[in-house]
Amino acid sequence: MTERISEPVIIINFKAYGEVEKAGALSLAEACESVSKETGVCICACPPAVDLGYVSRKVSIPVFSQNADPYESGSATGWATPSMIKGCGAAGTLINHSEHKVPMPQIGKCVELSKRSELVTVVCADDVLTAVQAAEFTPNFIAVEPPELIGGDISVTTANPMIIEESVAAVKKVNGSVLVLCGAGVKTGDDVKAALDLGASGVLLASGVVKAKDPVAVLLDLVKHI
Ligand code: G3P
Repeated sequence: MTERISEPVIIINFKAYGEVEKAGALSLAEACESVSKETGVCICACPPAVDLGYVSRKVSIPVFSQNADPYESGSATGWATPSMIKGCGAAGTLINHSEHKVPMPQIGKCVELSKRSELVTVVCADDVLTAVQAAEFTPNFIAVEPPELIGGDISVTTANPMIIEESVAAVKKVNGSVLVLCGAGVKTGDDVKAALDLGASGVLLASGVVKAKDPVAVLLDLVKHI
């Protein structure tokens, strides 16, 4: 894994929120960068595909794609290949986010091609079974996120701590080198601490930061126990 990514990892998924349109994606990535520089905590930005290259070249923190398509370089129209994602300066990619799901064989192909392009891979999983299946492909991270909690006000660490503990244990049994993140409803530093106490190596979150009036203040709170 790239030396730029250290545990605990905080990945901010910008999704396609209106707040990140136009200059919003760079502004939010710069907020992530300023808090990462101030605190020394590894914060990764995950802007929309249309901003990936531009943002990657403007900030020093790791920038991730929200998805990678399972194609090699060549005659592939309209897809974002791992090679292209790496070429625009991104450090890694999410795969199979619950809002951009792909069949299990395609997950494996995406991980294989992303690793070949030296991208850090974060495979998202709705549940423990998916996490275990995805661990067979040896991604760098698996992010377990119960879809019903995504975008809500209750953190997965409160609503369903067992899914984190069970995913950490089950993934470790399959492949000890794969680290587990968790997400869905994560909003505060207390949620982050709870995730780490449950064995996660970090968190994946979106609305708590992207839709905040003061993203820097939220980011500083997120990392206050690290
Ligand atoms: O990718 C992380 C995202 O799905 C979690 O969303 O808004 O619950 O932090 P949110």
